[in-house]
Amino acid sequence: MGDPFFVFMRLDRLIGHLAQLGRSTVRTHLATGHVSVNGTPESNGLREIGSFETVTLEGRTLQSRTPRYVLLHKPAGIVSATTDLEHRTVIDLIDEPWAPDLHLAGRLDRATTGLVILTNDGTFSTALTEPGAHVPKTYLVTTDKPVSPEALAAFRAGMPFAKERTITQPAIAHAITPTITRLTIYEGKHHQVKRMFSRFEIKVIALHRESIGRYTLENLPPGEYRIFDAREEKQTPAG
Ligand code: URA
Repeated sequence: MGDPFFVFMRLDRLIGHLAQLGRSTVRTHLATGHVSVNGTPESNGLREIGSFETVTLEGRTLQSRTPRYVLLHKPAGIVSATTDLEHRTVIDLIDEPWAPDLHLAGRLDRATTGLVILTNDGTFSTALTEPGAHVPKTYLVTTDKPVSPEALAAFRAGMPFAKERTITQPAIAHAITPTITRLTIYEGKHHQVKRMFSRFEIKVIALHRESIGRYTLENLPPGEYRIFDAREEKQTPAG
């Protein structure tokens, strides 16, 4: 299992950690040309190594990881977690040998359907999820009663969330029908959409995420996934 938050680590520390060696042994290996980075001998133990660079010690691979990016259409009933004792998880839907290396760039509630992004690239997932990035997430929200113009206006203005001591970013909110709203929010607080509607005593009866930044489901059927290469893309994940 990869560590999603390891982005760069000093070469000497990385070798010590992965090969379980003491500092002086690591120094000797570096000085005697036993260490290679991406196929080239490296003696500088201070070099910062990215989590997708290949490191070998005496020809033995210590680190070799390929960045992976997956768009998944999560069906209802599947848990947005990497492990769960009771329910199937999003990882269970990804039929790839490297699936256990993935982590989620933003969760959905178990009953919520739609777009989930998984990756083993901590830089990418942080860019999508860090609160300051304000990456837009668009949901189709089906409610038990009509959504009033006052509720839509409050969503657009931003709403106080006392628990987090904050005000939500102004959302984009459009009524598709009286009980179906398309809502774009710019953060991902716990149960955010349901909490926004519940302020107006409106219950969300179906919630579906259509997009995260410029990533969309297109016509991916529920339960299916698509592998993509985020490194080929020039823009930021927010689009
Ligand atoms: N807001 C919610 O309330 N639930 C989700 O799954 C996503 C956003």
